[in-house]
Amino acid sequence: MTSRDALRRLAKSLAPLQPRRALVAIGGRLSSEAITRLANALGGLEQGRWLADTRSHVPNLPDRFAVFDEAIRRVRGSQPLYLEFGVYRGRTLRYWTAKLSSPSARFVGFDSFQGLPEDWQANAQAGSFSVGSPPAIDDPRVSFEVGWFDETLRSYEPPSHDQLIVNLDCDLYSSTRRVLEWLTPRLRPGTLVYFDDLFNRDHQWRALREWLDGGGSAALPVAMARWGHHLLFEVPFSGPVA
Ligand SMILES: C[S@@+](CC[C@H](N)C(=O)[O-])C[C@H]1O[C@@H](n2cnc3c(N)ncnc32)[C@H](O)[C@@H]1O
Repeated sequence: MTSRDALRRLAKSLAPLQPRRALVAIGGRLSSEAITRLANALGGLEQGRWLADTRSHVPNLPDRFAVFDEAIRRVRGSQPLYLEFGVYRGRTLRYWTAKLSSPSARFVGFDSFQGLPEDWQANAQAGSFSVGSPPAIDDPRVSFEVGWFDETLRSYEPPSHDQLIVNLDCDLYSSTRRVLEWLTPRLRPGTLVYFDDLFNRDHQWRALREWLDGGGSAALPVAMARWGHHLLFEVPFSGPVA
């Protein structure tokens, strides 16, 4: 073997190591915020791959309120039950109460009102969104389950309804996962499930990926905004239900 061949063989055997070596070197020069942005960019790529695999046409609407309007268009009966996980000052809850006018509709807001139980991202640490108590909403159809989801969901059974609508606006992986565990055996044809913050790969997108691999596989994406940052699912009337 000539020395040139030996060098070529050595280069070949080291080649797979080079990208990793470069990544480690680059990583050492990046801020943790930059690395989080890269991880979230990877989450966007994963979401694109998954959406393509579902082969469903998911329209990208202007904003979350347009996605809510699409959900409301899919409400069929007169006795919908809207559960919101993450209420804060009640902005989105008020939107839903204004749009769903049926007197038999019910709206339940779940929140600790003590803010996030854990750190979420750099600008939203544990305790963010703490407001102490539920918002004043002058509508007898609205009630609140005050406390950590782990506690309130342990004994919560929904009142009678003909369609369940779930708004997951609780930011964290652990919180979203807890609600999905509760929800999965209660999915029925027509159930609507909305995720507010899928941009974060370590949080809602992670919880959604795991759900789709398990009990959530019956739900199909039907509308989104900000290219999947906000995403609405519906359990179709035909096909298997978990
Ligand atoms: C982004 S805010 C909700 C925003 C709200 N939907 C709006 O319209 O402005 C997220 C909320 O989720 C609540 N939250 C997150 N995880 C929770 C948990 N495990 N138990 C109870 N509340 C939780 C926080 O207290 C916070 O108020």
